[in-house]
Amino acid sequence: MEVKLVQLQKHGDDRGALIALEDQKNVPFPIRRVYYLFGTKPGVRRGLHAHHNLRQMIIAVRGSCRFLLDDGRERVELLLDNPAQGLIVESMMWREMYDFSEDCVLMVLADAHYDEIDYVRDYKEFIEMCRGESDEK
Ligand code: TYD
Repeated sequence: MEVKLVQLQKHGDDRGALIALEDQKNVPFPIRRVYYLFGTKPGVRRGLHAHHNLRQMIIAVRGSCRFLLDDGRERVELLLDNPAQGLIVESMMWREMYDFSEDCVLMVLADAHYDEIDYVRDYKEFIEMCRGESDEK
């Protein structure tokens, strides 16, 4: 599986740092929604779903967490701990986030508004859908 990590340009000077996110420039899709996860309690696992269509970019703007990506064939784990890196999570990717640092703020940019219909929350169903797709190829 190819993990897509976008390196975001830091505009820094002696006052501190700034990163700008612009769709179709360093964000490879139109930004329709932004949300952020924070105050995640110790030991909690979040995500545990895939999306039929949604594309997202995920940035640990503060702190860190571990991220599991699963495309139905392969599982990849990575540490998100850099506000200058955006992880692209395409549609039909199972994701889980865990080991959140106490200060972790995880920002998510998405190409569509919130829609519960777009979620796949059952892992078995996700795997069956992936198999169905690869049989069609
Ligand atoms: P959920 O998707 O379960 O979060 P996580 O992926 O971190 O486990 O969402 C938590 C709650 O927030 C759920 O009640 C749905 C709501 N929600 C919105 O209203 N809008 C959104 O954009 C998102 C992502 C969630």
